[in-house]
Amino acid sequence: MNLYSTLARPLLFQLNPELAHHLTLASLRIPVLSKLLTLGRKAPNDPVKLLNLPFRNRLGIAAGLDKNAEAVLAWRNLGFGFAELGTVTLHPQPGNPKPRVFRYPSKQALINRLGFPNLGAASIAARIRRLRDRHALQDFPIGINLGKSKITPLDQAPIDYLESLKLLQPLGDYFVINISSPNTPGLRDLAKPDDLRRLLSTLQDFNRSCSKTKPVLLKVSPDVEFSTLPEIVAITREFDLAGIVATNTTLHRDPDDPKETGGLSGRPLTDRATAMTQTLRPLLGSDQILIGVGGVMSAADYQSRRSAGADLVQIYTGMVYLGPDAAWEILRTS
Ligand SMILES: Cc1cc2nc3c(=O)[nH]c(=O)nc-3n(C[C@H](O)[C@H](O)[C@H](O)COP(=O)(O)O)c2cc1C
Repeated sequence: MNLYSTLARPLLFQLNPELAHHLTLASLRIPVLSKLLTLGRKAPNDPVKLLNLPFRNRLGIAAGLDKNAEAVLAWRNLGFGFAELGTVTLHPQPGNPKPRVFRYPSKQALINRLGFPNLGAASIAARIRRLRDRHALQDFPIGINLGKSKITPLDQAPIDYLESLKLLQPLGDYFVINISSPNTPGLRDLAKPDDLRRLLSTLQDFNRSCSKTKPVLLKVSPDVEFSTLPEIVAITREFDLAGIVATNTTLHRDPDDPKETGGLSGRPLTDRATAMTQTLRPLLGSDQILIGVGGVMSAADYQSRRSAGADLVQIYTGMVYLGPDAAWEILRTS
């Protein structure tokens, strides 16, 4: 029991999930608050170098929690080792009609059908540039997750992602190509081998032409047949991708899962995401990394994801249920 689970969480859970999220982010934008929340505690320290980047520990914030790069310093103050911002799309967009986020406390789950609401690549680039001008974030890598704008037709997806990458390439430490969110119509079709090749070759041609080539990873859906994973991994190798992020939210529902339309995350995803990590690890080259995400809600989940082969681990839903102590609870340090 801590202050979050006894006081803050019950209050926040009275509000609709999106409002609670915005209020939390707004308060976390005040750096002194996140410092106060963790006063006197040192960030969990388990340094590792991956992707040629220094991580102070292996637990990060998953994409979607900070879509517009609002609270990067807070994630660092809250003990995490890295944060993945976005999903960023080229065009600013409002996302799907509300309500579009649903909480299921008895299942430790969320369902969302947000549809990438975000300020767009140019505004978010300006924000991250300002942040980098003011703060050295040497031991806190920033990933940027890129998605397709809703208004861009699927056959023009490579150009849409490319234009975002052009704006953001110098600003991220690594990039994640998101073809796996379930809430943008057609997005998951980009996992088809020919479409995926076209997308990755467009992005990597540009990335390689930049003064510093950045690591690029692919974020995959837990709903793909495991039998398709060898081909997906082979394509990531063909285009020199640095690794895979597994997984996004799921459209699958077991009989007792909540039924709202959208992507399900949290506890109901734990087993599937772990199995996917286990399947992917031996397929990936020794030079490729695996970021495990999906239903990591406790220290035991973190350990089993690491044992399954994840080099780095991310959380989103776990953060909602565990609150500001999440990094300490999951990494079991005080
Ligand atoms: C409300 C919400 C919004 C999300 N938005 C994004 C997003 O914009 N891009 C993305 O790649 N994943 C997004 N995700 C998926 C998470 O990054 C993560 O892959 C998934 O939720 C599984 O992890 P979890 O069980 O720890 O939440 C979102 C998840 C939630 C719950």
